[in-house]
Amino acid sequence: MRVFIALDLPKDIKSILFNLGREIRSRYPFIKPVPEGNLHITLRFLGEISEEKCEILKENLRDLGKSFPLKLSKVGGFPTEMGARVIWVGFEKDKELVELSLKVDMIVDSLGFPKRDKPFVPHITLARTEKPVNVENFKVKNLTFFAKEVAIYQSILAKPNAIYKSLKVIHLEGD
Ligand code: 2AM
Repeated sequence: MRVFIALDLPKDIKSILFNLGREIRSRYPFIKPVPEGNLHITLRFLGEISEEKCEILKENLRDLGKSFPLKLSKVGGFPTEMGARVIWVGFEKDKELVELSLKVDMIVDSLGFPKRDKPFVPHITLARTEKPVNVENFKVKNLTFFAKEVAIYQSILAKPNAIYKSLKVIHLEGD
């Protein structure tokens, strides 16, 4: 099964980000916005793992610390802002988010999963496109929200969009 670990977003933030994706699509009709319900912050992508390994992960991924605020700050692009094929939103101060990803990495690595192949870049993917776009002038409202839940998701590849099935939710303390 294809599995990843993500930080969930509050409903109102997902709605605002989905609308931003739609706004961008009104100018660039070929982009594919991520469906509202699928918006998240990936903390660690595990790829294909066995059901047995997934059970071990579910048992061991816990105690991830306190909830913390995140402020939306910018629209970015992968591989570059001028030629983005992934359009994403980043955060103003992401120290606590980076610390959370390190905690997740420590647990995941200790269970013998392969080490992450790319450094963690905090972002929420809004849309994907085969034809690159320049996102340098795109803006996002500087809203603050509290990150309260981490979840283990199974990603079921489907058309037109992947289906994310929540396998376990870990509540961050203090919410
Ligand atoms: P991203 O698009 O937000 O960067 C589920 O596929 C999630 O895992 C995606 O939202 C994607 O995050 C993330 N991911 C990270 N590495 C991936 C990979 N090699 N293949 C597919 N998804 C990956």
